[in-house]
Amino acid sequence: MSDGEISTELVDYVRDLFAPSTEDFEMLTRGAKDFGMPEGWEISPDVGRLFQTLCRAVGAKSVVEFGTFAGHSALWFARALPEDGKVLSIELDSDYAAFTRSQLDRLKDSEKIEIRIGSCLEMLPILESEVEASGQKFDVIFLDADKAHYPEFLNWAEGVLRKGGLLLADNVLRSGSWNGQKLLDTDADDPRIIAIRKFNQMLATHPKFTSIIVPMRSGVAVGIFDG
Ligand SMILES: C[S@@+](CC[C@H](N)C(=O)[O-])C[C@H]1O[C@@H](n2cnc3c(N)ncnc32)[C@H](O)[C@@H]1O
Repeated sequence: MSDGEISTELVDYVRDLFAPSTEDFEMLTRGAKDFGMPEGWEISPDVGRLFQTLCRAVGAKSVVEFGTFAGHSALWFARALPEDGKVLSIELDSDYAAFTRSQLDRLKDSEKIEIRIGSCLEMLPILESEVEASGQKFDVIFLDADKAHYPEFLNWAEGVLRKGGLLLADNVLRSGSWNGQKLLDTDADDPRIIAIRKFNQMLATHPKFTSIIVPMRSGVAVGIFDG
């Protein structure tokens, strides 16, 4: 029996208990603000902790993420990986990439993070060739940029994710940047909403993924690739 919605107070309770604020992440947030980056684009600490838990569950060593921004998610991932683990983070904005690199360089575990400048859509064939050449597929793929192309990213993931690997995606339920429209608005015409509805439908019915949307924060899709 449900006792109503989880209150903000309870959400904060979970965050404070499992992912309390630390100076490293606060430094990234402060730096981003001073640099003039938009506020609140990074994953929240409780989502970061969820990702760490999932990475540990699948024994992840390699992560590719789309959308570096101020480095929060990259650092959450890096800190869940073993010493020889690697996070490849793709960022379109070269100023963000350079600034975030300089920020991360001050922090432990940042040597596991490589930031690569480019459009994630254009990066797909390059990453695919690299995976083919190395024979090493990714353990985790995290989608957090270019939301109008999530369906294409899902199709691409099938070729570069190892069996038992994780597909993660943020903003699959809501976002502050959909021109005021909502996922379930019947007349929504924002291309990102249309793409995310398609992505959610594809993932829910995908024969090669066991998946769910965790209704945390902006909605996080989690899929295990069954190969
Ligand atoms: C929501 S933020 C990422 C937040 C980050 N993953 C975190 O949680 O800390 C999205 C980032 O993707 C970048 N971006 C936007 N379009 C992109 C594209 N087509 N390819 C790569 N990066 C893109 C933006 O500049 C922005 O920094």
